[in-house]
Amino acid sequence: MSSGATPSESVATRVATPLPWRLDCHIGAGGEAAVADELRRALTARRPWIPARWFYDDAGCDLFVRITDLDEYYQTRTEQALLEDHAPEIVRAHGVAELVEIGSGAARKTRVILDAMEGAGTLRRFIPFDVSPGAIAASAADIAAAYPGTRVHGVAGDFGRHLSRIPRPRQDGRRMVAFLGGTIGNLDPPRRRTMMRRLARLMRPGDCLLMGTDLAHDPEVLVRAYDDARGVTAAFNRNIVRHINAAYAGDADPEQFAHVARWNARASRVEMHLRARRDIDWSIAGLGVVLPIEAGSTIRTEISCKFTPAGVRAMYEDAGLALTAWHEDSLGRYALSVATAG
Ligand code: SAH
Ligand code: AVI
Repeated sequence: MSSGATPSESVATRVATPLPWRLDCHIGAGGEAAVADELRRALTARRPWIPARWFYDDAGCDLFVRITDLDEYYQTRTEQALLEDHAPEIVRAHGVAELVEIGSGAARKTRVILDAMEGAGTLRRFIPFDVSPGAIAASAADIAAAYPGTRVHGVAGDFGRHLSRIPRPRQDGRRMVAFLGGTIGNLDPPRRRTMMRRLARLMRPGDCLLMGTDLAHDPEVLVRAYDDARGVTAAFNRNIVRHINAAYAGDADPEQFAHVARWNARASRVEMHLRARRDIDWSIAGLGVVLPIEAGSTIRTEISCKFTPAGVRAMYEDAGLALTAWHEDSLGRYALSVATAG
């Protein structure tokens, strides 16, 4: 495995493997100062918050996979069922040869799309993109083994900064960009708009974007999905403190924070917070900050926006894309939609 931090973000660390997949790693390739600045600014804001990428160290990725298996977390199984019902027709309609998946994580549902591409005889290349190099390495190895002859080219990066490092589309087939799981909802409106425009830039005419969006519905069901009975989501939420402690020599005890999930009707989103159980001075030496956190006050760790069909259509139009297909489950909780480039 080659290493070598580089002074510039423009050079990736290429991980050479004897396996039929590769990984370009932009995490830590000179961008650490920007990452630390963003986190420092967020934690010291008037209303402190933490960027969602901090959930996803190896332990956080594992906890997220456990979340996706929870009864309360209907999103994953609903999206899986929608993919099983509709991926074959979408893949055939667009002649998809190459799948670029943004925030691919464990890439479990991805296999439904890859199966559809294989069934259509068009599967050529899979490009998983995620902030977690470990998640990409694990899924890329499995997928390369399961789909022999398919090129698997992982890219580890932050989708706020590194989407332009995704390899150019090949000339020999059309590309699908997939953004699944409702992850678009974890971005606030300005970041979401920028993200959609960047996704559109990854596409050529004839390519398509496949996106999963969680829909606005019963707040009780929504909040339960983020506050499960077994406390897996609470552990996922507290893990963000452990991850920041490990990355920047912080000293807060994650157990001193209570997990909070609440519905914000005005913004149509579930929010997760960490509420201090007592006064805490969180020293984070690597960021050069000591955060005084009063008992009862909260740090917002996640927004998870819930959409309407009109809102999703508007999001595509703003990015210069046209909505061409909409599939939602019978309870109107979750939607899979397809948009094309001009
Ligand atoms: N697509 C999968 C995983 C969703 S979880 C599913 O539907 O189940 C969100 C994924 O996005 C995680 O794998 C996380 O590592 C990744 N992620 C979160 N913030 C990111 C960022 N800023 N840049 C790139 N990936 C990010
Ligand atoms: C990844 N993302 C779409 C999840 C969500 O539902 O917002 C993350 C999550 N947070 C708590 N549970 C799941």
